[in-house]
Amino acid sequence: MALRLKQRFEKKFNEEIRFFKGMMQGPKQVGAIVPTSSITARKMASVVNPHSGLPVLELGPGTGVITKAILARGVPPEKLVSVEYSEDFFHHLVQGYPGVHFVQGDAFDLKTTLGELADQTFDSVVSAVPLLNFPMETRIRLLEDLLDRVPAGRPVVQISYGPMSPIVAKPHSYHIQHFDFIVRNIPPAQLWIYRRG
Ligand SMILES: C[S@@+](CC[C@H](N)C(=O)[O-])C[C@H]1O[C@@H](n2cnc3c(N)ncnc32)[C@H](O)[C@@H]1O
Repeated sequence: MALRLKQRFEKKFNEEIRFFKGMMQGPKQVGAIVPTSSITARKMASVVNPHSGLPVLELGPGTGVITKAILARGVPPEKLVSVEYSEDFFHHLVQGYPGVHFVQGDAFDLKTTLGELADQTFDSVVSAVPLLNFPMETRIRLLEDLLDRVPAGRPVVQISYGPMSPIVAKPHSYHIQHFDFIVRNIPPAQLWIYRRG
């Protein structure tokens, strides 16, 4: 029991050090202070339908907390496509989550980043990519691109840290749902769901 606790503590510590290193290298890309909490990760992963037969698209996995929660929902590793910008996080993820299709690249340019999967339809999108540093048109363009990659009605779930949806409403194109406010996250996190139809 004591050994299990020690191993868990060491793993968490390593994740936080890695996250901090990522912050030092690219604070604008990382956009949070410490890794997403497991409560937040589980809530985000709860939108995924593991029985749809379609792969799930994850953006900005970082240390892999949300990746782990998506896999725990019953999504087979080979049905998870996960796009991470940072080379350091990417190598860590490939080692830590064998079988998951990690792609190193830019979520804002999925046509290039996804390569042969560019025309793939996904069940849903789970995104932790920081949006607030980008102009609103760029955020809307990303969201519309993501919604084009999932069936009508399926969700794009996004984590954010401000009080408002990080993407403005466009009722003729998509609906916004405030999904949750999670205090047990540093900083406290807002979850938003966007859907068409
Ligand atoms: C808030 S952190 C995610 C934290 C992650 N949930 C965790 O707990 O480790 C944002 C992540 O998005 C990645 N990222 C930022 N901009 C990106 C982009 N344009 N494309 C893909 N990933 C990006 C960062 O490298 C970082 O891993």
